[in-house]
Amino acid sequence: MSLTGKTVIITGGVKNLGALTARLLVPLGNPNLVLHYHSEADKVEGEKFVKELAGLGSKAIIVQGALQKPADNVKLFDAAIKEFGGVDIAINNVGKVLKKPIVDISEAEYDSMFDANTKSAFFFLQEAGKKLNKDGRIVMVVTSLLGAFTPFYSTYGGSKGAVEHFVRAAAKEFQSKGISVSCVAPGPMDTPFFYAQESKESTEYMKSVSLNGKLTDIKDIAPLIKFLVTEGWWITGTTIFANGGFTTR
Ligand SMILES: NC(=O)c1ccc[n+]([C@@H]2O[C@H](COP(=O)([O-])OP(=O)(O)OC[C@H]3O[C@@H](n4cnc5c(N)ncnc54)[C@H](OP(=O)(O)O)[C@@H]3O)[C@@H](O)[C@H]2O)c1
Repeated sequence: MSLTGKTVIITGGVKNLGALTARLLVPLGNPNLVLHYHSEADKVEGEKFVKELAGLGSKAIIVQGALQKPADNVKLFDAAIKEFGGVDIAINNVGKVLKKPIVDISEAEYDSMFDANTKSAFFFLQEAGKKLNKDGRIVMVVTSLLGAFTPFYSTYGGSKGAVEHFVRAAAKEFQSKGISVSCVAPGPMDTPFFYAQESKESTEYMKSVSLNGKLTDIKDIAPLIKFLVTEGWWITGTTIFANGGFTTR
């Protein structure tokens, strides 16, 4: 399935899972890439990545945004339309994790988790629903914790859980435009995002319950996203769990 002439938005697209997803799409016909980043600290890395992608044959731009703000989602999609004339594929890879007992979570922490994981996802989907071209594809990255029975991830799992419901509704609401919408739910994944919240012991435990004694690798997940936005387009309104046996779902 060629992506020649297509334009892809990837949020959190200049590092880790988002960046690998961008890299994997390039050989499929050099789509245009609109890569979002959040923290100013990622701007320089993003600019380097744009040059790398140009060398591989894909035009790319970077766009900053705090995506819990609806206006920043508008800015992101409009930047893609201005630069490349439309958007065909929208991949939302934004996430924020907190591992903490319910009794210790402050209102500010609660709000920040639901801003980063839920509100950002909703307004990203809303823009995608308004602006994606016919036969567009949407993938939302959630977490395998949605299939786990475990303590301490109440706000992470809860705020990502809402996204599954948004996706079911969006899959129906955008059906008339031929747009498929799905979630991908990675297991505990070997990126800095994971280690910031985990101890040596919890890391060892999560490794021990997987197929190969390792954490999920971004290389295990990016091909699934690629599949959903190409040959796997018939999958819609559902969540693909990929975690090497961490959960049964
Ligand atoms: N690593 C894991 O164990 C794991 C497991 C399952 C699922 N996931 C999910 O996989 C996705 C990618 O994670 P990753 O491990 O590759 O780490 P990552 O590169 O840190 O991805 C998360 C991205 O979300 C951005 N972000 C956070 N809050 C935001 C906000 N309010 N507005 C806009 N952007 C925001 C981050 O930007 P800043 O860093 O600049 O804040 C970052 O670019 C996330 O959705 C995560 O929830 C990760």
